[in-house]
Amino acid sequence: MKIVLLGPPGAGKGTQAVRLAQKLGLVHLSTGDLFRAHIKNQTPLGRKVKGLMDAGQLVPDDVTWQLVAQRIAEDDCAGGYILDGFPRTIRQAELLGEQETLDAVIDIEVDGDVLMHRLCGRRVCVACGAPYHTSHYTGDTCTRCGAALMQRDDDRPETVKSRLAVYEAQTAPLIAYYRERGLLRPVDGAQETENVFAEILRLLGVA
Ligand code: AP5
Repeated sequence: MKIVLLGPPGAGKGTQAVRLAQKLGLVHLSTGDLFRAHIKNQTPLGRKVKGLMDAGQLVPDDVTWQLVAQRIAEDDCAGGYILDGFPRTIRQAELLGEQETLDAVIDIEVDGDVLMHRLCGRRVCVACGAPYHTSHYTGDTCTRCGAALMQRDDDRPETVKSRLAVYEAQTAPLIAYYRERGLLRPVDGAQETENVFAEILRLLGVA
């Protein structure tokens, strides 16, 4: 199965992708995570994309596609994958479509004020990446592995505003693009995480 998770920043793509990957035995491929790993390891690509990501802007299509194309060509992706955060522009969708046949595009829908609250209060574990929210957890270490929690550089309010504007301008047109191709499966992402997950499984016909 080859699935795309579409949705604005903070919609819950990463949260649902982790669960789906585990349940369906698929590879979870997050372009944001791939870029953050390059930044952490201070690679040439990491140095190139850091400023763009910190400003909430998109990395150029050719750079992003090269990374994704390389990753989906690896053996473990032959059994299927979940794309989280890719494609994000019509051009990226075209490049992907030239090479791959998708089974479904799950569009996780959440309103802007909820997204602001989720992202500005998000904290992530520096070691395992587990997400937390300040309204549910006030500790400063990860309950799973004990490492420190941090705020992502792009989760500060000014940058979140830019990310939401970039989403509307460059990524939201993908909703119509995939609807026209009969692949779009919308889901209400404002529900409890478990309910969103159950709804996605139902849409994929694997509930
Ligand atoms: P990326 O890392 O992909 O960030 P994003 O799309 O902005 O998504 P987020 O990770 O912020 O949110 P999410 O939807 O995964 O939500 P999450 O599950 O964490 O991209 C970062 C940057 O990389 C981009 O700005 C760009 O610069 C670059 N980039 C990446 N891909 C690119 C591409 N294809 N092209 C060009 N540039 C690219 O949940 C958010 C919070 O809400 C968490 O705290 C979570 O616990 C909570 N939550 C989740 N679900 C629920 C729920 N149902 N109820 C209550 N809380 C919930």
